[in-house]
Amino acid sequence: MSCTIIVGGNFGDEGKGKIVSHVAHQDRPTIITRGGVGPNAGHTVMVGEKKFGVRMCPSGFVYPDARLMIGTGVLVDPRVFRHEIEVLGVEGRIFLDKRCAIIEESHIQEDKTNTHLSQKVGSTGTGCGPANRDRAMRVARLARDLPELQPYLVDVPLEVNTALDNGENVVIEGTQGFGISLYFGSYPFVTSKDTCAAQMAADNGVGPTRVDEVIVVFKAFPTRVGEGPFSTEMSSEKAHEKGIQEFGTVTGRERRIGTWDGEMARYAAMVNGCTQAAITGIDHVDPSCFGATKYSQLTKTAKDFLKQAEEDIGAPVTLISTGPELTQIIDIRDEYE
Ligand code: GTP
Ligand code: IMP
Ligand code: MG
Repeated sequence: MSCTIIVGGNFGDEGKGKIVSHVAHQDRPTIITRGGVGPNAGHTVMVGEKKFGVRMCPSGFVYPDARLMIGTGVLVDPRVFRHEIEVLGVEGRIFLDKRCAIIEESHIQEDKTNTHLSQKVGSTGTGCGPANRDRAMRVARLARDLPELQPYLVDVPLEVNTALDNGENVVIEGTQGFGISLYFGSYPFVTSKDTCAAQMAADNGVGPTRVDEVIVVFKAFPTRVGEGPFSTEMSSEKAHEKGIQEFGTVTGRERRIGTWDGEMARYAAMVNGCTQAAITGIDHVDPSCFGATKYSQLTKTAKDFLKQAEEDIGAPVTLISTGPELTQIIDIRDEYE
């Protein structure tokens, strides 16, 4: 029985979607529930040749035996929610907390046209900042106010804590990443909420004493979308040369790419209370590791990189992702139990 939180240690887009999906298939949780800001997140999950992009639904949806939930603290865009239910075929097993605040069309317009948000911060234009403001002002509508959402409403904290009382596994899925936390990130170039493990627990009404594992996901070559400082950033030409350029799931913007930042990794691990780390994109460190599923298949270059990363993070690296597909992963969590 355990409660596992999965969060991002860089600037978002670390590949949390893939890690959550893998952990779900291994640990068989009865609930996978989302924390984080809202539909500004874009998780990618690749199963075989099929690629799914999700913004509201927990990316653990590819594991069919869990109930899927959206925590109390998360902003809900009803249009995106309904669209994903249809496209992903998750009707009947997806629920949201009755107190989730709603993103209105006007929030989206404001996010896209406000110069500070759209140009200085480089927001995703999904209405999250203005909706969180209205929530703090106590004028936002909540999910319970919308007739169309009634069939999906539950008390997420009650569901999650009851599952834990019954000895079931629960996965709490974070979005965004440490560097864009409203509190700990590079303010003002940040999102509209904290992005750390404690926030993900709070978003779901889970107290700190109930959390067993915090898996922080780092990217071998961190990326950043939008504005803001990025100390290890490389030029776009260099990223293209290395063949590691990436584009955003939500906005399609080209992601800025950098090299490993040990100092940031250590600080992110500290604030998150990291018990284990996941590293994605090891195939970018050494392309010959692409698709490896066993630690012994990794090259010296990759192993040296992981050793340094583990030293920086100060916690064991137990999940090593070797490509975008769900099964391209090395899972050595057993060795640390
Ligand atoms: P946010 O919630 O928006 O922070 O996103 P996320 O952490 O779920 O990550 P996202 O899916 O936006 O971006 C990660 C990208 O890397 C996706 O395109 C994944 O398919 C891809 N990816 C994940 N793991 C690996 C890996 O090990 N190697 C490679 N080459 N790509 C990977
Ligand atoms: P907002 O959250 O849309 O207001 O955007 C604020 C900043 O956070 C911008 O720099 C966005 O690019 C960034 N951001 C928000 N959500 C994500 C995410 O899920 N992945 C990566 N960057 C994000
Ligand atoms: Mg993303």
